[in-house]
Amino acid sequence: MLERSPVILGTGSYAPERVLTNAELARTVDTTDEWIRTRSGIRERRIAAPGEATSDMAVEAARRALADAHITASSIDLLVVATMTPDMPMPAAACIIQHKLGLPTASACFDINAACSGFIYALDTACALLSSGRYHRALVIGAEKLSSIVDWRDRATCVLFGDGAGAIVLGPDTAPPGSARRGLLGTCLNTMGDSVDLLCIPHGGSSAPSTAKSLAASGNFIKMKGAAVFKTAVRGMEEAARDILEQEGLNANQIALVIPHQANLRIIEAIAQYLELPMDRFFVNVDRYGNTSAASIPIALDEARKAGLINVGDVVLLAAFGAGLTYGSALVRW
Ligand code: ACO
Repeated sequence: MLERSPVILGTGSYAPERVLTNAELARTVDTTDEWIRTRSGIRERRIAAPGEATSDMAVEAARRALADAHITASSIDLLVVATMTPDMPMPAAACIIQHKLGLPTASACFDINAACSGFIYALDTACALLSSGRYHRALVIGAEKLSSIVDWRDRATCVLFGDGAGAIVLGPDTAPPGSARRGLLGTCLNTMGDSVDLLCIPHGGSSAPSTAKSLAASGNFIKMKGAAVFKTAVRGMEEAARDILEQEGLNANQIALVIPHQANLRIIEAIAQYLELPMDRFFVNVDRYGNTSAASIPIALDEARKAGLINVGDVVLLAAFGAGLTYGSALVRW
């Protein structure tokens, strides 16, 4: 076991060029820019180009994270990809990404599906494996092509989601002995498997393989009970935030920046209110990307860092919820 937690050596993100505005969506489904903005805070989202797969976006974000960390692909021996939209059901997107990035054959590469909480699950898994001393440098990627699993005729869901990818490089902490503890301080991961029906893709898996009938009924697209998910999301993210602060002996005022899963501005505002923190302590980019599921936190983390909002020594709180329902939090000291 390593004595010190792994640290984040670099971050990167990628969003497809194509911007889909609310006004454009209002021409295809019965909605308005005003409804989408006031209910969700979303103004526009990015949509992958035809033929652009999750792995292509992941590779671009990973290359940027590797460049930021000044690390070559050949020194990575662990790749964990959080996604619920892999290029194909089998094999894992991580295998395709490994090949495209040119990571060594002697590297462990696998996917994690914890929906929108996926990045926090992947971060925790990668840090645990690095801390074991059996791996040395990891790439953790959150990448999604949600446009491929959204029913573009369902106004209740299609206005919320977008495509993109974010990545981080993790490696050993080389700070001199006696320096403050850095890297991942702790995580709280939770699951409510009794709430699967609130948010799921009912067909296309082993319990209900796709049939001509299920495809015609859009059974292989996201189905969501929005209001129930909203309530559970606020409760779950608040609980996970409080639990991780208590676990690490910190109070909310010691958090420099909260990077919440970007699903809905109103969810973020409710959490800010419950945690009694001002909104300027929360990073928000849901207006530009919509909900990119597992990609949302690493994209936001990269943008926050590059905007100079995270400085050495800062404690950053990550919090997410998603289908499963999964929810969780992580504390990272920079
Ligand atoms: N445009 C116009 N009207 C709409 C639209 C739309 N795009 N979508 C729904 N409506 C209608 C509904 O039909 C409903 O009409 P009705 O009252 O006549 O039945 C009305 O608007 C109100 O709908 P509500 O569901 O009550 O609206 P609400 O204020 O709850 O906002 C929203 C809806 C934005 C979906 C909200 O519930 C939400 O954000 N929920 C959480 C969603 C979420 O975060 N999902 C991601 C989970 S993460 C993952 O793992 C993928």
